Amino acid sequence: MTDRFAIILAAGKGTRMKSPRPKVLHEIGGRSMLAWSVALAKDLGCKRTVVVVGPDMPQLSVAAAKLVGAENVVIQREQLGTANAVDAAREALKDAYGNAIVLYADTPLVPKEAGERSFAEVEKGASVCVLGFKTKLPNRYGRLVTTGDGALEAIVEANDASEAQLRIELANSGVMAAPAKLMFELLCDVKNDNAKGEFYLTDLVGLARGRKLKAAVALCEEREVQGVNSQAELAQVERVFQDMVRERMMVAGVTLPAPETVHFSYDTKIAAGVTIEQNVVFATGVSVEGGAAIRAFSHLEGAKVGAGALVGPYARLRPGAVIGKDARIGNFVEVKNATIGEGAKANHLSYLGDGEVGAGVNIGAGTIFCNYDGFFKYRTVIGAGAFIGSNSSLVAPVTIGDRGYVGSGSVIVEDVAVDGLAIGRGRQVNKDGWAKAFRDEKLAAKKAGKKPKGAI
Ligand code: UD1
Ligand code: MG
Repeated sequence: MTDRFAIILAAGKGTRMKSPRPKVLHEIGGRSMLAWSVALAKDLGCKRTVVVVGPDMPQLSVAAAKLVGAENVVIQREQLGTANAVDAAREALKDAYGNAIVLYADTPLVPKEAGERSFAEVEKGASVCVLGFKTKLPNRYGRLVTTGDGALEAIVEANDASEAQLRIELANSGVMAAPAKLMFELLCDVKNDNAKGEFYLTDLVGLARGRKLKAAVALCEEREVQGVNSQAELAQVERVFQDMVRERMMVAGVTLPAPETVHFSYDTKIAAGVTIEQNVVFATGVSVEGGAAIRAFSHLEGAKVGAGALVGPYARLRPGAVIGKDARIGNFVEVKNATIGEGAKANHLSYLGDGEVGAGVNIGAGTIFCNYDGFFKYRTVIGAGAFIGSNSSLVAPVTIGDRGYVGSGSVIVEDVAVDGLAIGRGRQVNKDGWAKAFRDEKLAAKKAGKKPKGAI
């Protein structure tokens, strides 16, 4: 296959975001928009990906260097237009023999298939391929001017378009593929004699046609190429992403009684046969195996949920939580960096942090793993089949042996033996008639107007 390269434009200032964070570092589905574009380039098999940033964008340059390597981050000195931005990659790609695709870092949802279709046209012989979409009018997108037989002739920016051209419903997404050498050659001929006085990348189409070269269009859906310029558009694109994942999940056999209330991340993995109830949030790094159910109002991040497990309602799984097959994590239970064994249960009001809970363990309501002394963290290990009575504090580091018992209300500071029992609480004392005597004495004092010492 011909080598592929990607040029990602990220030099725009993004002033309309009104945010101290560079625009393309804002996230969709838990991943920065820039990382989305880089991931697309990678999925398309690009040999090198160059990111074009503006000057004075140190935070963005560092983030881009982490994703593509510092040698692939180039600076566009002045924002003179999209053609000028692509031109900034000329030196970095001087040895690029193959085809290049231009992506906008603020357009995160371009599907791999759309990129494939764009490259495919060039691989089949087109000199330039533009990813276009059918759109509702009016809008400010560049218009794809085609001939009677549907061949692409030129792109006209809305600002420069005639009345007739503004009625064209085929719009430019901004994604463009071309042989790399030809792209940089044509860029030399781009002028800025247009309404905005900018160097337009879109002029490459007219320039290619001027040389009698073939220009092609690949098609995609409008929502896949929706760009982000403001916080409101960021939220809109997030909504598009969420809708796309929800659709994909349901097609793949995930049961979502109220899909519009469930929030996914770009890397959420849910197996067929899982039910996810209302108002569940999947932050990044979560996988759920078949037959499990995530009940309403749960929040999961960096967690693995095993087959048949039941999580929630109102559960919180934090990074490193690994919930075993058929385990139960109930309401107001928080699990962090802890493995919960097969069939184990923690049904109510617990904090299980930095631990290992064996198979079949029962954790009573209100159990707390005291994992932190203010300086260091320690582990709690509970052997298979153990029973932890309600309202117990297990002060780590501590181990409860297999099948061991902990009496309710205990503060456990020492290990408990296999098959042993530990009770760590004050012994109960019963005094018959005490309450009546106490009441009589206090009532008598009140009647006599005598306050006990210290009373107010
Ligand atoms: C561009 C297209 C238009 C298309 C639209 C789709 C051109 C001339 N026009 O218009 O046909 O319908 O996108 O959204 O290409 N950028 C730089 N440096 C620059 C200028 C832009 O890096 O000097 C980056 C921006 O950060 C942005 C992208 O290029 O990510 C597109 O630039 P923008 O100014 O938004 O172009 P549009 O006017 O929207
Ligand atoms: Mg734009």
